Amino acid sequence: MMWAVKLGKLLGHPTHSAAGWVVSKLFVFGNRLLEENAVQLCGIQPGDTVLELGHGPGVGLESAARLLTEPAGHLIGVDYSQYMHQMASERMKELVAGGKVTLHHCDVAAMPLADNSVDKVFHCNCYYFWPDLRKSTAEIHRVMKPGGVMVTTLRLLILAKLASKNVMPRENWHPEAYMSALRESGFTDVRMEDKKQKQSSFQAIYATASK
Ligand SMILES: C[S@@+](CC[C@H](N)C(=O)[O-])C[C@H]1O[C@@H](n2cnc3c(N)ncnc32)[C@H](O)[C@@H]1O
Repeated sequence: MMWAVKLGKLLGHPTHSAAGWVVSKLFVFGNRLLEENAVQLCGIQPGDTVLELGHGPGVGLESAARLLTEPAGHLIGVDYSQYMHQMASERMKELVAGGKVTLHHCDVAAMPLADNSVDKVFHCNCYYFWPDLRKSTAEIHRVMKPGGVMVTTLRLLILAKLASKNVMPRENWHPEAYMSALRESGFTDVRMEDKKQKQSSFQAIYATASK
């Protein structure tokens, strides 16, 4: 099962290597539907401050940036992989240079962001890899404005399959584990919905930062 553990490590923290490059291509082509739906479902307004966690190559960043048409609209991305940070910085370089987008190379559990500063948060395929769900959800709650909405999209069937092959590093991929950490950190209206688009089915987990 060594290969499974290695694959799990690579998916959770892609490194600058041939294998890291291959998984980055898988993210771009395999996860576009999840990324674009997470952006749509969190209800971005043109002047919002929006945050993506674990953005990887930056497909979701690109589609969120298109919605932030007012001058006040600002997009922030965080990823603790140096390689993914570089790849997304390259993809978004004009908007980063113009100040519309800010990317931080950091852990979700310790973000260099002010309290109550973010309106909408989205993420895909990321929470499964957080070693301490409570620590990360408390940090996300700290940076969100009261009433702000967070959405994560996932494919439960694929996750269960990967977990059965020991690719998932621990049990945190279970939506129930993530949803209880959210509630314990002060999120309300925490719920999961089944979604379908074209031939693909996926899930969306919603949470609202408490007032
Ligand atoms: C499986 S990839 C998914 C990338 C992209 N969201 C997608 O769906 O294609 C997980 C990403 O989350 C990042 N990540 C995982 N845990 C993180 C953490 N604690 N803090 C910051 N980034 C994290 C990884 O570096 C990686 O880029």
